[in-house]
Amino acid sequence: MTGQLRHMLRDDDIDHDEQLEILRLGMKFRENRFYKRPFEGPKAVAVLFDKPSTRTRSSFSIGVAELGGYPLVIDKSGSQLGRGEPVADTARVLTRMASGIVWRTFGQERVEQMARYATVPVINALTDEFHPCQVLADFLTIAQLRGGVDALAGKTIAYLGDASNNMANSYLLAGAVAGMHVRVAGPNGYLPKDDIVADAQRIAQRNAGSILVTTDPEQAAAGADCIFTDTWVSMGEESEYAIRSKPFQPYQVNDALMRLARPDALFQHCLPAYRGKEVTASVIDGPQSVVWDEAENRLHAQKALMTWLVGVQRGDQDLLA
Ligand code: CP
Repeated sequence: MTGQLRHMLRDDDIDHDEQLEILRLGMKFRENRFYKRPFEGPKAVAVLFDKPSTRTRSSFSIGVAELGGYPLVIDKSGSQLGRGEPVADTARVLTRMASGIVWRTFGQERVEQMARYATVPVINALTDEFHPCQVLADFLTIAQLRGGVDALAGKTIAYLGDASNNMANSYLLAGAVAGMHVRVAGPNGYLPKDDIVADAQRIAQRNAGSILVTTDPEQAAAGADCIFTDTWVSMGEESEYAIRSKPFQPYQVNDALMRLARPDALFQHCLPAYRGKEVTASVIDGPQSVVWDEAENRLHAQKALMTWLVGVQRGDQDLLA
């Protein structure tokens, strides 16, 4: 295979222009689901899950098929990887057969190790640290509903809730890449790590964006173009609900909080959602909520990302035409 081997392990693996190129492709797939079929043959893409999934599983499975390819979906319980076979050995095997590897797993170091040993693109389908595919879909949703891909730079986005989780990290980095004004709010003890904030600030400065990390939910929401939240407990942390409910309550996205944002502000949630906890039913089922467009956009954004990594970056520029 000629061309450049690129991976999508965290949101800042692509730069501003590359993010725009992928999102423009995503818009084309939104308009025509069969716009390009770079995996015709079919090429296989291995899609591995160490954690449960509805949206990621369906969007990658259907997405690979719509690109003309074959999605090889493997669960933890059905693989040797799940029984402790080294990541490096799994990478060496899959790379001989598949054109790309998509993996939902635990620590970020696992996808990094997969990428070190694979000679095909590796895509992070959620780790404990980042969820870059979700945020590409979220930005595609803003582009779809608020002026297109070129109107993303300069928009203000606010994420409220567990600001130490993978979604907060991804909004910080991807928003900085996009040149957005990114605000992240959560209680003390649940704020992003300093190294992520420093990376986001450096990237934001380059792209005329800005970063605000705060414990004040109203400061974060004021005048925002889009409000995001996520479950207060990530996968595997369910026993923490009793501890977190009280400190997280001020960060609940409810009607009063939405009124602080722009009158035409969008509400997004990566799902699954817990009504009455991180978001009220009145907001997620209300007129400003675009969560079903957001979920659908996982399909279009990931098809664009796969086309870009497996096709464009590996030498087929015609896929952009
Ligand atoms: N948002 C998201 O990743 O959903 P799933 O866990 O259902 O894949």
